[in-house]
Amino acid sequence: MKTLLTGGAGYIGSHTAVAMLEAGHEVAVVDNYYNSSPEAIRRVEQITGKSVTLYEADAADKEKMREILKAEMPDCIIHFAGLKAVGESVAKPTEYYRNNIDTTLTLLEVMKELGLTNFVFSSSATVYGEDNVPPFLETMPKGACTNPYGWTKWMQEQILRDAEFASNDTLSVVLLRYFNPVGAHESGMIGEDPQGIPNNLMPYISQVAVGRRDHLTVFGDDYDTPDGTCRRDYIHVMDLAEGHVRAAEYAVSHKGTEVFNLGTGNPYSVLDMVNAFSKACGHQVKYEIGPRRAGDVQDSWANADKAKAVLHWEAKRGIDEICRDAWKWQSNNPQGYGE
Ligand code: NAD
Ligand code: UFG
Repeated sequence: MKTLLTGGAGYIGSHTAVAMLEAGHEVAVVDNYYNSSPEAIRRVEQITGKSVTLYEADAADKEKMREILKAEMPDCIIHFAGLKAVGESVAKPTEYYRNNIDTTLTLLEVMKELGLTNFVFSSSATVYGEDNVPPFLETMPKGACTNPYGWTKWMQEQILRDAEFASNDTLSVVLLRYFNPVGAHESGMIGEDPQGIPNNLMPYISQVAVGRRDHLTVFGDDYDTPDGTCRRDYIHVMDLAEGHVRAAEYAVSHKGTEVFNLGTGNPYSVLDMVNAFSKACGHQVKYEIGPRRAGDVQDSWANADKAKAVLHWEAKRGIDEICRDAWKWQSNNPQGYGE
């Protein structure tokens, strides 16, 4: 199968490129390097010994995307390109709506012109909102999001459903709701490389462990959970990547819209992750308890039964592998790709 990955130089896209190539599929990547580096793709090629066709372009640029998609004519497009920082989306909502929604509309329009039919989308567990009670099931109604980033995912899901509905059984749309992607490829050659101060837990812990930051602030220990800290469904990025291989294979052999949770079904607390990482890196990761972070939900984890039943996929790696691989990436590349 020929795949085209928008945002394929980013964290999840680069790991998915490895999984796709290892499954015997072809990979082309479109990225504008807003939040990534072409070095990630060079490393994908080193890991797999296979080549990737790389285009530097904005996925919202219709002329450019027409040219690229005409040249590639992929069997399946996987749309990772997007802006993803929750806090930044509150400060810059129009940039988030413009980039995330425009890229999706451009791809749908050009796909229609060229007769391309299969689309896999990076959605998020954030669309379950605050009122659903975990484990989250795909059949639950979507909830109200707490920030513009979340709303862009919510809206893109709706746009894709509407386009598929209007296509008279031509389009195939797979909406993947990721839980908390963490970890790195087991080689330690590719991983998450956030710009500036990390917003997310695992890159923050990694940077404390490697000495780039003094300590982690745990956002609240007064939640109604066993140790008082929030619980999440942390999924190894290579498990997530392998889920994309199954989803793309499913997309090319079905029509209609399908939603899948990609999670493990197992919740872990913030302190569970600090302890697992301390074990993996061989020293205690320093932390202090701070106030709650605005917008955080207490609990979020998946019911992952549908992906297992329909895609024959389930997460195989646990938090020890997650921390081992994140530490390998961080300790081998203390400054990420920027060295
Ligand atoms: P990332 O920032 O590492 O990757 C996104 C990539 O898209 C980057 O390489 C960036 O340069 C590129 N990009 C952004 N706008 C573009 C545009 N207009 N044209 C071309 N390229 C563009 O993020 P990630 O963690 O790999 O996330 C991938 C997708 O998964 C995103 O859509 C994100 O919202 C979604 N997602 C991520 C998480 C998470 O926790 N990482 C959770 C749920 C959903
Ligand atoms: N946390 C800390 N200290 C930190 C960072 C995070 O204690 O420095 C805690 C948070 O309070 C939360 C947990 O660690 O309890 C996980 O936080 P992350 O920021 O890593 O992840 P979130 O669950 O908040 O958000 C993630 C993605 C979003 C997505 C959301 C729902 O980053 O893009 O899941 O899918 F919208």
